[in-house]
Amino acid sequence: MTSGPGEGPATVVWADGRLRILDQTLLPAEERVIELTTVDLVVDAIVRLAVRGAPAIGGVGGYGLVVALDEGAPATVTEARRILAEAGERIGTARPTAVNLSWAVNRVRSAAMGGDTVEAVRELARVEAQRVIDEDRAACAAMGRHGATELATRHRIMTHCNAGRLATLGIGTALGVVYAKSEAGHPVEVYAPETRPLLQGARLTSWELHRAGIPVTVLPDSAAAMLLGSGRVDAVVVGADRIAANGDVANKIGTLSHAVNAARAGVPFYVAAPLSTFDPDTAHGDKIEIELRDPGEIRFFNGKATTPPDVEVWNPAFDVTPHELVTAIFTEVGVLRPDYTRSIAEALASGSQPQIDPDPDNQGESHES
Ligand code: MRU
Repeated sequence: MTSGPGEGPATVVWADGRLRILDQTLLPAEERVIELTTVDLVVDAIVRLAVRGAPAIGGVGGYGLVVALDEGAPATVTEARRILAEAGERIGTARPTAVNLSWAVNRVRSAAMGGDTVEAVRELARVEAQRVIDEDRAACAAMGRHGATELATRHRIMTHCNAGRLATLGIGTALGVVYAKSEAGHPVEVYAPETRPLLQGARLTSWELHRAGIPVTVLPDSAAAMLLGSGRVDAVVVGADRIAANGDVANKIGTLSHAVNAARAGVPFYVAAPLSTFDPDTAHGDKIEIELRDPGEIRFFNGKATTPPDVEVWNPAFDVTPHELVTAIFTEVGVLRPDYTRSIAEALASGSQPQIDPDPDNQGESHES
């Protein structure tokens, strides 16, 4: 996977038998690509959000199993399977809310377990990990097209967090819709709430849209209600980390506030997510595990204390938007509408897979060790 004009370095790359990511903790000040050569480094990169966004951590998680095999250098198939099981457990649980991570890890682990030599196990893992990436790339393109058609007359989009190229293996989910609109020649501009406390909106969404030449305005999260009420937003489009069987949507903390405020202002609220983000085993949003992060992310800003020491801090990384507040969900197989229990079940049962993007850049990097 390489990047095209205006795209910047690719978020996740497997090339020359190595797993590399763009370290997102350093953006926008510095574009540094780092190599993940051990399971410890893979887990650390996911936990500290050097790679982040549900589909992107799924892509890294899948290839993390190949890294584990290379690091462990098993002498027997039994040993290779033990490494897959142990590394799969560690990587697959590094962050709990985005279902794409455990989904991708389980998928690659199951495929590789079938190998009857050490080499076959490793090759099956590599091929499946690349499939996860290629499929997400294709899914992003397809959901972007569906979203752009639905929003053909809505040009002023508010999003949240970063659900773009940096968060996926393709052009993004919510921002994929924005890129597809731009590609179709529609005027489009984006409002990006900064997304406290780690500023994915201010640091990442503005960075990737700005370099793609798409007008973007950053605002404090707390200004979003006023913006939505002012008539300056035609639609809210966000990504998702996990969507329950009934359509409840877990996404970055603050999404729920935007959905409530959008409903009050009469602004439609859309979610863009690949089928890999749906979790049919979770009946409704109350059952979704919400990642609680280090209080230090709140207690300090720019290295300075924001609270007296030892004040209690609650730092949930995600919230759940009830399905009643979701106008529609853009997926690679089409636009899902209420009743979500029915439309989600049908979409997941359809088994349709989007065509893999035949981009020669993409193929080139999947054809090596
Ligand atoms: O904590 P993060 O930065 O990984 O959270 C990411 C989000 O909440 C995104 O909106 C979500 O993963 C969808 S990305 C296509």
